[in-house]
Formats: sequence, structure tokens, C-alpha cells
Amino acid sequence: MKTDRSDILACLRNSGDYVSGQQLCDRLGVSRTAVWKVINQLKEEGYRIESVPSRGYRLIESPADIYSESEIVSRLHTKWAGQRLIFFESTGSTNPDAKRFAEEGAPHGTTVVADRQTAGRGRRGRSWESPAGSSIYFTIVIRPSFSPEKASMVTLVMALSVAEAIHELTGLDTGIKWPNDIVVNGKKVVGILTEMSMTPEMNEIQFLVAGVGVNVNQGSAEEFPQELRETATSLKMESGRQVDRAGLLARILARFEEDYEAFERALTLSVLKERYESRLVGRDAMVRVLDPAGEYTGISRGITDTGELIVEKETGETVLVYAGEVSVRGLYGYV
Ligand code: BTN
Repeated sequence: MKTDRSDILACLRNSGDYVSGQQLCDRLGVSRTAVWKVINQLKEEGYRIESVPSRGYRLIESPADIYSESEIVSRLHTKWAGQRLIFFESTGSTNPDAKRFAEEGAPHGTTVVADRQTAGRGRRGRSWESPAGSSIYFTIVIRPSFSPEKASMVTLVMALSVAEAIHELTGLDTGIKWPNDIVVNGKKVVGILTEMSMTPEMNEIQFLVAGVGVNVNQGSAEEFPQELRETATSLKMESGRQVDRAGLLARILARFEEDYEAFERALTLSVLKERYESRLVGRDAMVRVLDPAGEYTGISRGITDTGELIVEKETGETVLVYAGEVSVRGLYGYV
């Protein structure tokens, strides 16, 4: 939620120069004393803010990896994504939290963020390791105007937005493992869990929640549980640099807002397909499709406008793979 704190931070950051106390008061409609109080609080939290009597305040530096509601909100440049933001130091899982807020009427774009989850959820009933201090865990509420069969495409939209946001911020070459895992150098850095709530008549979507977990600042494989060490990695491990979580989250939300709007106008992935396919790992390579009805191999040829994976079997037959219970692997491991 926007507060005097996040507004003052945003003003200082966006100006990059001195902002006078009076300007802050005028812009935010608050008293001098209120501004002064917030500046002092921020300084206490480790923000380096210079105060020069005749010129005003200047933000010199934010504390390293500060991850708080005001820090994230002060970095947002969106119309709806994250404009209502709820931040928890610790929660069970941001997905059920977001569902609860949505049930209570939270608007489109409401975002629940946690520094730690004690019951993080993965797909297919798996858990999602969610320790404090190193990762991004968030869930966004989406209120679509389209029919339920289009909902699975939103996960692919989110995968593209996250993959590109990470690339923009870190320069890492992010790949998308269909439909929605993001990998760097063959290891997973992002998981997405989308859930849908239907109207009581079961014919329309009430809301969707898209939950995203990004491994950001784990320093080494030892920080992952034993069973994930071969297949998981973090942005810091791959880039060699600490990544600013608040900045990355703000960028993901901005990208998602833009991509989702483009998708909502088209109601197919046609407008995003080229960008999605350019990141699709294993394109034109042999993949194994783990279908509960029977495994098969074939060459992955990209996606359809509605998000199915196109697989060409050795027999020459083309199969459209629907996300859901099916997973797709390369022939030699996870990717
Ligand atoms: C996967 O299995 O790949 C999906 C993982 C999704 C994890 C995110 S973290 C934020 C949100 N809250 C959860 O409990 N899960 C999702």
C-alpha cells in the first residue's frame, strides 16, 4: 500500500537529487513534521539520506538488500500490478493468503509478498522451500474477464515476464522450460503455481492467483535441500552478484502488467509467442513427454497460440501437449 514512507522514498529515488522539505510536503500533502519524522525513521533503518538546510534531502544509498513494503512500493511504476501490496515477514504460503484477500474483494493486481514461507507450496502437491532473506515469494490476484479454458495461458505469460525481468536486471540468459519453470544454465531458478477460483455456478472465473518463487541470493548449493542441489540454482550463484530483491520484484510486476494487458487484448498468446519461444529450452531438440497415459519422445517444435507444446513424434505425427499432469524432460536430465 502507498504510504507517506513509500511516497517519500519514491520522490527521493526518482529525483536522484535534492528534494526540499517543502516540495515533499506539497507533493504528498503532509506537514513538515510528518516529512521530518519519516526521514528520521528511514535513516534509523539504514537509508543514507543527506540533509542540507538550504537544499533539502537527498537519498545517497539504500541499505543492502532492504526488502520491506515501503521499499518495494517506492519502486513500483505500475497502474495495477502490486498497487495494493501486502508484505509479510513470514507467512504460511502467499497463495492461500492471496485467495483470502481476493475472497474479501481485493482488487485486480493485489500482491502478497513474504520474506519467508513456512508452508510454501509447489506444483503437484510438492512443497517449496522458502527460507528468509534470500528469495522472492509473491502471489498476485488476477480478475480476468475471459473464460476458464484460457486461464492456463496466464502462467505462460507470467513465465515470460519473470524470465525477461531477470534477464534485464542481471543479464543472465534465462530459459523457459515449458510450461512455466525458468532455468539458468540448465538449473531451475523460478517456479510458478497458478490456481483458479470459479464462481458458484462454476461457469466463470472468480479470480486467479499466480504465485511465483524466485531463488535469488542463495550463495551456494548447500543452501538448498539435498534433493534439489542437482537441479536448483540461484541468480546470485549464476551471476556472481547479489541481486536487489525489491528492484527485481518491481520489475517483474511492471513486465507482467504490460504482458498481461497485451494477452488480455488478444486473448491468445500470439502477441507474446515469439518472445516466449525464443526462451523455450529444448526447442527443436528431442524431449521425453511424461504423460500418465504413456511416455513418449519427440522433437519439441515450440508452442501453439494457446500455449500447448508442439511435439513431433518419430512417426511424423504431431502431438499437442497440454499442461497439467504432463511433464516434459530433455533426454538427459531435468531440462
Ligand atoms: C513449482 O512447483 O515449480 C511452483 C512453485 C511455486 C512457489 C511459489 S512461492 C510464492 C507462492 N507461494 C507458494 O506457496 N507457492 C508459490
